[in-house]
Amino acid sequence: MAQVCGLGLPLVLLVLPMVGTSMPGTVVRLNKAALSYVSEIGKAPLQRALKVTLPYFLDRSGEVLQPIRIQILNVHVLHFHLKFIADFGVRLLGASKFDFKVFRVPEPLELTMPVVLLADVRVAQGPIQTPMVSISACSSFFGNISTLDGSNSSSPALLVLLQKHIKDVLRNKLCLSISNLVQALNVHLGTLIGLNPVGPESQIRYSMVSVPTITNDYISLDINAVLFLLGKPIILPVDTTPFMLPYHVGTKGTMATVGLSQDLFDSALLLLQKAGSLNLDITGQLDSDDNPLNTSALGQLIPEVAHQFPESMPVVLKVRLGATPIVTLHTNNATLRLQPFIEVLAAASNSAFQSLFSLDVVVNLSLQLFVSKVKLQGTTSVLGDVQLTVASSNVGSIDMDQVHTLMGAVFEKPLLDHLNALLGLGIALPNLVNLHYASPKVFVYEGYVVVSSGLSYQH
Ligand SMILES: *[C@@H]1O[C@H](CO)[C@@H](O)[C@H](O)[C@H]1NC(C)=O
Ligand SMILES: *[C@@H]1O[C@H](CO)[C@@H](O)[C@H](O)[C@H]1NC(C)=O
Ligand SMILES: *[C@@H]1O[C@H](CO)[C@@H](O)[C@H](O)[C@H]1NC(C)=O
Ligand SMILES: *[C@@H]1O[C@H](CO)[C@@H](O)[C@H](O)[C@H]1NC(C)=O
Ligand SMILES: *[C@@H]1O[C@H](CO)[C@@H](O)[C@H](O)[C@H]1NC(C)=O
Repeated sequence: MAQVCGLGLPLVLLVLPMVGTSMPGTVVRLNKAALSYVSEIGKAPLQRALKVTLPYFLDRSGEVLQPIRIQILNVHVLHFHLKFIADFGVRLLGASKFDFKVFRVPEPLELTMPVVLLADVRVAQGPIQTPMVSISACSSFFGNISTLDGSNSSSPALLVLLQKHIKDVLRNKLCLSISNLVQALNVHLGTLIGLNPVGPESQIRYSMVSVPTITNDYISLDINAVLFLLGKPIILPVDTTPFMLPYHVGTKGTMATVGLSQDLFDSALLLLQKAGSLNLDITGQLDSDDNPLNTSALGQLIPEVAHQFPESMPVVLKVRLGATPIVTLHTNNATLRLQPFIEVLAAASNSAFQSLFSLDVVVNLSLQLFVSKVKLQGTTSVLGDVQLTVASSNVGSIDMDQVHTLMGAVFEKPLLDHLNALLGLGIALPNLVNLHYASPKVFVYEGYVVVSSGLSYQH
């Protein structure tokens, strides 16, 4: 029996991090429009990559062997098309025109040749949980070479030899060059797993957790997030369910469709709460003109306060969020529920603070979400009434009807300002260095959020 356990345990440990992880899920789906964009911005780098160097051509027509230098003057990629291949990756098709200069004596010769390139790019999951691309098949097809400027001084025999030389060289070099170009993309794709700051002591890191799903219409990447506070991962208390992104969500025809699970929001709020970022102190001295926080004002509502503080003293509210805020995602409607605990203290004469009473508060907020560059940001406003109940009192019984108006007015605005400043900092969405979301739109669905967006590469 002990033997079985001894064998079984390491197996469980191996399997556990894969299955039962509470890593909040996101899905990034890149649609056909994203491929069009890649082909658009990829044209110039492709042209540069195809401008390879050619070895000298050895002309044997004369009495002595004559090395002739050949240079690619220009590569024009006239047509560059990328398409998804289901369960595999992306096919690249490029139609181009190469212009050459042949440094022949007495006069140089300019030639042109059409070249068609075809390459299959496999998209896989790399060893460090990033997308990884590689060329699995590549071929080039050459048209006939002809003189560029109608120059007519070439002998057809030389042209045939030059054409053979150029094709032999390019057949190997072009595919190698494309392969290098594609390989180099992996460095960029690797930046997916970079740490992005969330607050001063917290970060978020994304990683691709499974092989991508590829259809003829899109590539879908399962990307999980881990939030860190002081270097330690934030783990949700409940087991998370794997997140799936339905197909028909967001804007049709968009480049990227990013699905964000409820778990991601729960984790972000848990992080804010654990970091203490949501706590704040509201003091009466700061803004003495319109801040009614002092013991004489309170004393008019609570006789015992007036009794204990014959002279008006400043009052401080310590707002603490012991419970994690709850976000609820319904179609077109995101709400946030905060349950702060507020301790009301008065400054005593000897610069110490004395607790007057404390309140349990429930406030419902409507949450608006938006994306700027790569960050998901939010802003809130109060929904309905703020619910206040007395948790404890050192000043006798409190008529909540009277105190409600005063307390509501005092803490609501500072709390909202504080919360909105935090949500305004935002949280990075899955991203790559230099790649931004362009004209993003946020949609709220039952239990998840979708960002439909274009992409913009900043060179
Ligand atoms: C290239 O030239 C050869 C011989 O003139 C001809 O048979 C062939 O069809 C031409 N190929 C193309 C792609 O034009
Ligand atoms: C090109 O050369 C051929 C003979 O080699 C000649 O018949 C023809 O007229 C020339 N054409 C031009 C445009 O110079
Ligand atoms: C206490 O607050 C009230 C406003 O609620 C204000 O009118 C009054 O001047 C304040 N008293 C002192 C001593 O600051
Ligand atoms: C959103 O949901 C909350 C709570 O269910 C509700 O009070 C509010 O009216 C809803 N808002 C909209 C725009 O549907
Ligand atoms: C907050 O919203 C919840 C759920 O919609 C509701 O049950 C509760 O009464 C609301 N509380 C306040 C104080 O508005």
